[in-house]
Amino acid sequence: MHKIRKCLFPAAGYGTRFLPVTKSMPKEMLPLVNKPLIQYGVEEAIEAGMNGMAIVTGRGKRALEDHFDISYELEHQIAGTDKEWLLTDIRRIIDQCTFSYTRQVEMKGLGHAILSGETLIGEEPFAVVLADDYCATEHGEEGVLTQMVKLYEKYRCSIVAIEEIPREDTRKYGVIAGDLEADNLYRVREMVEKPDPAVAPSNLAIIGRYILTPDIFDILRETPPGRGGEIQITDALMTQAKMGNVLAYKFKGRRFDCGSIEGFMEASNYNYEHIYKKKR
Ligand code: UTP
Repeated sequence: MHKIRKCLFPAAGYGTRFLPVTKSMPKEMLPLVNKPLIQYGVEEAIEAGMNGMAIVTGRGKRALEDHFDISYELEHQIAGTDKEWLLTDIRRIIDQCTFSYTRQVEMKGLGHAILSGETLIGEEPFAVVLADDYCATEHGEEGVLTQMVKLYEKYRCSIVAIEEIPREDTRKYGVIAGDLEADNLYRVREMVEKPDPAVAPSNLAIIGRYILTPDIFDILRETPPGRGGEIQITDALMTQAKMGNVLAYKFKGRRFDCGSIEGFMEASNYNYEHIYKKKR
């Protein structure tokens, strides 16, 4: 029985909502206080038992790779000073995980980015984290990926994380409809990418956490471009859902859309109050 060991981070998008800062750096490197978004995602994956971090990059990948590499000069410089602890967490991550990278050479959508990651994942179930969706959980509560891995161990099928959104926002998300399978868990019947509020099948929106079974790669290869001319993961998941193989999980925790300026500012303030100040 396959355990989930790998986590894929699609990080090739242009991040146009954050221009000009994203002109030369990936938005996944934007910091919430002093830690880049992607590091929070990696920490969530580690907590869920994963140690293979697979990153799909596009332009400006240097900063991502450098972040997850050892900087000997820097470590030497601050060794024995009161700043040494600032690098402890990232050093532990580097020691514990393997990082691999591939490039999405054309920006053809999230589904296409995930398919580009096949070479790093292979034939096993895996998690996907969109690092610009930052998920905070209360102290002592399990991270969202940990919650999802536990469900995967029971149901052995693809799982998407969902949350209730205001109806007028359905145009920004993949939206599902399904039948209640257990508490906070739906067996997906229908999925639509960015529907008009008038025709959206519900107000349950998919956010940036997935567990996918590896047959998704063959399905993605056959999935034609959908909404916006992009290859949509939602369309590929719909193929699995038709066979009853997709669950949608209303997770415990709070999500911030750090791909938008408002969400990013809220998450920064939240982390400053709830994490940074308490750690000092
Ligand atoms: P977004 O829809 O947020 O797009 O992608 P974006 O380009 O990153 O940001 P904006 O809208 O221009 O500001 C959702 C996720 O999918 C990845 C992005 O990196 C992000 O994590 N993605 C999207 C890719 O890796 N490749 C793509 O072709 C599209």
